[in-house]
Amino acid sequence: MIDSLIIAELSKIAKQMVAPGKGILAADESMKTVGKRFASIELENTEDNRRAFREMLLTAPGESQYISGVILHDETIRQTTSSGKTFVEILQAAGILPGIKVDLGLIESGNEKLTTGLEGLDARLKEYVALGAKFCKWRSVVTIGEGMPTEENIRQNAKDLAAYALVCQQNSLVPMVEPEILLDGDHTLEQADAASEKVLTALFEELKSAGVALEGIILKTSMVLPGKDSAAKAAPEQVAEATLRVFKKVLPLELAGEAFLSGGQGDIEATQNLNAINQEKNLSWPLSFSFARALQDAATKAWMGKSENLEVAQNVFLHRAKMNSLASLGQYSAEMEQDFFREGAVTVSQD
Ligand code: 13P
Repeated sequence: MIDSLIIAELSKIAKQMVAPGKGILAADESMKTVGKRFASIELENTEDNRRAFREMLLTAPGESQYISGVILHDETIRQTTSSGKTFVEILQAAGILPGIKVDLGLIESGNEKLTTGLEGLDARLKEYVALGAKFCKWRSVVTIGEGMPTEENIRQNAKDLAAYALVCQQNSLVPMVEPEILLDGDHTLEQADAASEKVLTALFEELKSAGVALEGIILKTSMVLPGKDSAAKAAPEQVAEATLRVFKKVLPLELAGEAFLSGGQGDIEATQNLNAINQEKNLSWPLSFSFARALQDAATKAWMGKSENLEVAQNVFLHRAKMNSLASLGQYSAEMEQDFFREGAVTVSQD
């Protein structure tokens, strides 16, 4: 059981993470994943380039209007920016909560995956607290396919997420609990809906039985979407309807909030879907964003690893952050994208 004073503190941080109009920037990609992003702009995957990339995103002026917290990678939480300050100091000065990815990646389990990192977690969390972290992330993945997800995989992932969440709360850190339902495959919206309901039902059973305080966690899961190879595409209203059906059936009222991952949706698609979900009034929880690709991709292309593109890239990033902020309030419209390009904020030097 978690001490009631700690629960009050966790609940305060969790509310701050999903405060109205705010969401989270996921900037915790592994070295390998950063390598893929850099390959698309022909940039070498060095420590200095990763630092410059994260600096571009994390020092965008005024981003705290839209961003409440940033999930950092182990490398970044220890790094210093070109100003001589650490990334954590930069975030703290801007009133943004530093978070940290604490799982150690995926392993094969038959045709499915499990997440590693429970061993030694308590000691690693104590170090992250000393480095200034206020919240954590642990990602599990669920595959939809022939006979999948299996009950066994759903249950083990739920147990591991619950065990992680409890250790976080014991260390006064808010756990972001992330079961990602992968977009890979040709599954239908109905299959995603059924998988999502099963996964979230098992997750909350395990969180409750482990004694995790639900008012001190943030759920980070997928919108309910058809697979990316599915012939049938879903309109934002259908995504919203399916996602809200599952949430209303399964999410406990005490849950502090939910922040969606983007999962490989296009950036504008993710914003449109988030906006459609937030057309529903009187929801029991804030439903916000915790995007990596849908917040970063356009800015990465505008940046190209060149310091002369920094300002433009930061403007592109701030624009996406603002669009998602508005979508989290249900106040986004497609014309807002046009206005940005008309204002001419995106002339990029490629030389
Ligand atoms: P995407 O928004 O790119 O899916 O990443 C979010 C995330 O943190 C995945 O763990």
